[in-house]
Amino acid sequence: MKVGKSIWLFLLFIECIVSDEFHDKFQEKFDWIEQKVDNFNASDNRTWKMRYSYTNRYFKPGGPIMINVGGEWSISMKATLLGLFYEMIEEFQGYGFNTEHRYYGKSFPVADLSIENLKYLSTEQALADLDYFIKYQKSKIKGLSNSKVIMVGCSYAGGMVTWFRRYYPQSIDAGWASGAALHHALDYSDGLISVGKSIRKICGDSGYNLVERMSLSYWDHKRQNDSTYLELEAKNLTIHMEHITEIFSTEVQHRNFTYMKGICRNLTSPRNDDIFKFSEFLGYLATKIPHLYSFDNADSLKVDENTFGRQWLWQSCNGMGAFMSTSSVHQPFGQYKMPFTEVIGKCKKQFGPKYTIDYVSSLVDNTNIRHGGYEPNVTHIYFTHAEDDPWKYTGVHDERATIIPGIGHCHDLRQRNVKDWPLTRAAKEHGVELMRQWINGK
Ligand SMILES: *[C@@H]1O[C@H](CO)[C@@H](O)[C@H](O)[C@H]1NC(C)=O
Ligand SMILES: *[C@@H]1O[C@H](CO)[C@@H](O)[C@H](O)[C@H]1NC(C)=O
Ligand SMILES: *[C@@H]1O[C@H](CO)[C@@H](O)[C@H](O)[C@H]1NC(C)=O
Ligand SMILES: *[C@@H]1O[C@H](CO)[C@@H](O)[C@H](O)[C@H]1NC(C)=O
Ligand SMILES: *[C@@H]1O[C@H](CO)[C@@H](O)[C@H](O)[C@H]1NC(C)=O
Ligand SMILES: *[C@@H]1O[C@H](CO)[C@@H](O)[C@H](O)[C@H]1NC(C)=O
Ligand SMILES: *[C@@H]1O[C@H](CO)[C@@H](O)[C@H](O)[C@H]1NC(C)=O
Repeated sequence: MKVGKSIWLFLLFIECIVSDEFHDKFQEKFDWIEQKVDNFNASDNRTWKMRYSYTNRYFKPGGPIMINVGGEWSISMKATLLGLFYEMIEEFQGYGFNTEHRYYGKSFPVADLSIENLKYLSTEQALADLDYFIKYQKSKIKGLSNSKVIMVGCSYAGGMVTWFRRYYPQSIDAGWASGAALHHALDYSDGLISVGKSIRKICGDSGYNLVERMSLSYWDHKRQNDSTYLELEAKNLTIHMEHITEIFSTEVQHRNFTYMKGICRNLTSPRNDDIFKFSEFLGYLATKIPHLYSFDNADSLKVDENTFGRQWLWQSCNGMGAFMSTSSVHQPFGQYKMPFTEVIGKCKKQFGPKYTIDYVSSLVDNTNIRHGGYEPNVTHIYFTHAEDDPWKYTGVHDERATIIPGIGHCHDLRQRNVKDWPLTRAAKEHGVELMRQWINGK
C-alpha cells in the first residue's frame, strides 16, 4: 500500500473535550474581511477575502479585543483546544475573534498553489494582515476604538503573536504564546531526540530499547527485502512501521502524562517483543491519530480547505526550516527513515532547483536574524511550553518561559478543569493574571 511522504507540521490534534454547550453560549459567527494580496506593494491594489469568526456575546464597550491567531490550519468555531481563551473573553468582557491565516482554511488570496502564486505566503504578510485586521475592527465596531488588544496563539501562531509584538507593538498590549516556535533550526534533529527522551522518561529504558530494537530491525528487514519484510508487507503492517516516528511524536506531542503511561504499559507488554505484534500495536496507535496521514498532497496545486501540506512545505523551505530528521544517533528510530538530505530534498522537488540546501539554509538564517530567534526581545508576552513537547526546542524554553510538566502541546490554553494538575492550573491562572495586568497598563 502506497502512502505519500508525510510532512512535519506542528499539527493540531482535535479532540472533543469541551462541550458544545460551552461554545454555544458564545454565539460565534463567521465573517470576512477584505485584505491586500501584497501588503508591501502600494501599487498592487488586488484584494482577497480573509475569513474570521467573532463573538460579542460578552462584550462591554471599552472591553478588550481578543484574538486567537490562526496558524497553518482551518479555523473552527468550536475551538475545543482553546477553552481558556473563551473563558477569558467572558471574564474580560472582550470582543473575541479567531483569525484565519492566509493560504489556509478558506482564506486564499490566490486561485491555486502554483509556485508563482505562493509568493504572497509568508509570516510577514500574515502579520500585516493582522495589523490591518485590528485597525479595521477598531474603526468599524462601536466601543472598540480605544480597546486594548490581547492575542493568543499556539505553536506557529504562538511565534506569530511574539513577532506581532516585536513589529507592531502599538497594536497589541498582551500576548500568550503557547508552544511558540521562534528559533528555526534547519535540521531539527532535536525533535526526535526529545521524543526519545520522553519515551525513556515515561516508558523506562525497556520502552526505549524496544522502540529502538524494532526500528532497527524493521529497516534491516526492509533493506534486505527478506521473508519477514514480505510477510509484514502482505499483512499491511509495513505502513505502520514506515510511520513509526510520526506515530510516536504525535503521541508525545499531544498526549498528557496519564495517557502516555497507558500507552507505555501496552508498549512494553511482553507480546510486543515481536515485530508483527509491535507493528499491530503501532497500527492501533495510528487509529487514534485521525490526521496522521492527511498532510500529504504537497504536489497538489488545488486550493482546499483541508490540505496544508504544500503551503506548510513552502513556508518551511522559505525560512521556517525545522525539518524534523533522524540525523541524530541519540533517538530510537534509526537513521534510515528521514535522513536530513532527503527531508530537505522535498524543497527542490516541489519548488525548483534553486532550493539547494545552501539556499534553504541561508533563508532560515535570515529568518532567525530578522525575528531574533531565541531572543525575540519583546515584553508583555507570556511564554509557555509543555515539558515533553518535541517542538519545545524551537521556542524560548529557559526561565523566561513557564514549562509545564505532564501535558501536551498547547494544553495550557484548554478550559480550566478540576482535573488539572497543580502546575497546569498555576500556569493558567498566572497567564490570565498577566493578561489582566498588561491590559490595565501594568
Ligand atoms: C507591485 O505591483 C505592481 C502593480 O501590480 C507590479 O507591477 C509590480 O511588479 C509589483 N512590485 C513588486 C516588487 O512585486
Ligand atoms: C487597481 O489599479 C488599476 C490601475 O491603477 C485600476 O485600473 C483598477 O481599477 C484598480 N482596481 C481597484 C479594485 O481599485
Ligand atoms: C522484494 O522481493 C519481492 C519478492 O521476491 C519482489 O517482488 C520485490 O520486487 C522486491 N522488492 C524490492 C524493492 O527489491
Ligand atoms: C492491505 O491493504 C490493501 C489496500 O488497502 C487491501 O486491498 C488488502 O486487502 C489489505 N490486506 C490485508 C491482509 O489486510
Ligand atoms: C489526560 O487525557 C485523558 C484522555 O484524553 C483524559 O481523560 C484525562 O482527563 C487527562 N488528564 C489530565 C490530568 O489532563
Ligand atoms: C492499551 O491496549 C488496550 C487493548 O488493545 C486498549 O483497549 C487501550 O485503549 C490501550 N491503551 C492505550 C493508552 O493505548
Ligand atoms: C530590544 O528592543 C528595544 C526597544 O523595544 C530596543 O531599544 C533594543 O535595541 C532591542 N534590543 C535588541 C538586541 O534588539
